[in-house]
Amino acid sequence: MAKLIDGKKISGEIKDELKEKVAQLKEKGVEVTLAVIQVGNDPASTVYVGNKKKACAYIGINSLAYELPEETTQEELLNLVRQLNDREDVNGILVQLPLPAHIDEDTVIRTIAPEKDVDGFHPQSVGLLSIGQKGFVSCTPAGIIQLLKRSGIEIDGKECVVVGRSNIVGKPMAMLLIRENGTVTVCHSHTRDLKEVTRRADILVVAIGKRQFITADYVKEGATVIDVGMHRKEDGKLCGDVDFDSVEPVAGAITPVPGGVGPMTIAMLMNNCVSSVE
Ligand code: GUN
Repeated sequence: MAKLIDGKKISGEIKDELKEKVAQLKEKGVEVTLAVIQVGNDPASTVYVGNKKKACAYIGINSLAYELPEETTQEELLNLVRQLNDREDVNGILVQLPLPAHIDEDTVIRTIAPEKDVDGFHPQSVGLLSIGQKGFVSCTPAGIIQLLKRSGIEIDGKECVVVGRSNIVGKPMAMLLIRENGTVTVCHSHTRDLKEVTRRADILVVAIGKRQFITADYVKEGATVIDVGMHRKEDGKLCGDVDFDSVEPVAGAITPVPGGVGPMTIAMLMNNCVSSVE
């Protein structure tokens, strides 16, 4: 039986630590404020944005919600971002993705002031991470490092395999694991013998967006398996990129879906908001 890595519990601990920090900042007269912009009403985005606002309220971070219509032009959105960049009372700016097709996401991300880029998506944030310097780190991979550390799983010297090379998860995950002295391999859709590589992993991070793709034959006995995927099965239940029932008996530790990586993303967003004033 693998040890279950409880993201719900760990994210709760982080949020409680942040709540305490925010209270101390308030005593010194310092407020933390996050601006959240949603364009259009994609139902999944509405749920994510709602969860972010709830987390802000719990921790004591002020949230400014901007709900813009689908027809908003790129220039209108950029103007709002520029206004928020200039506001001293706004510490963090988050533009919920995906944006409608007529708006270029890269242009929007580049317009956010790097010192308010709490998502860690700005090229400056990404560049700082890649040279090991201080900057905002993408929330999901940062959350995975916290899950590992707070579960007592050592990274130093370990074989770490990341499956998926996205800008939001795979690439920053690799950078963070290198920073923690892991030996890191990144696999993707062109990897020739995926199974041969994943079976070497002491720590296997899976972020490929394919439902229940990783089965027991991809996993070394005793490995730590981190599942970033989120899908819905025919029966309506949630599942990940990892076939949990098949992998769990082989793994040493594993994250469930839901309740693994998911809750950590918001906790780390809140952490980035607090860091932005510290
Ligand atoms: N859409 C899905 N995940 C995210 C995220 O972490 N940040 C933003 N801005 N949009 C998202």
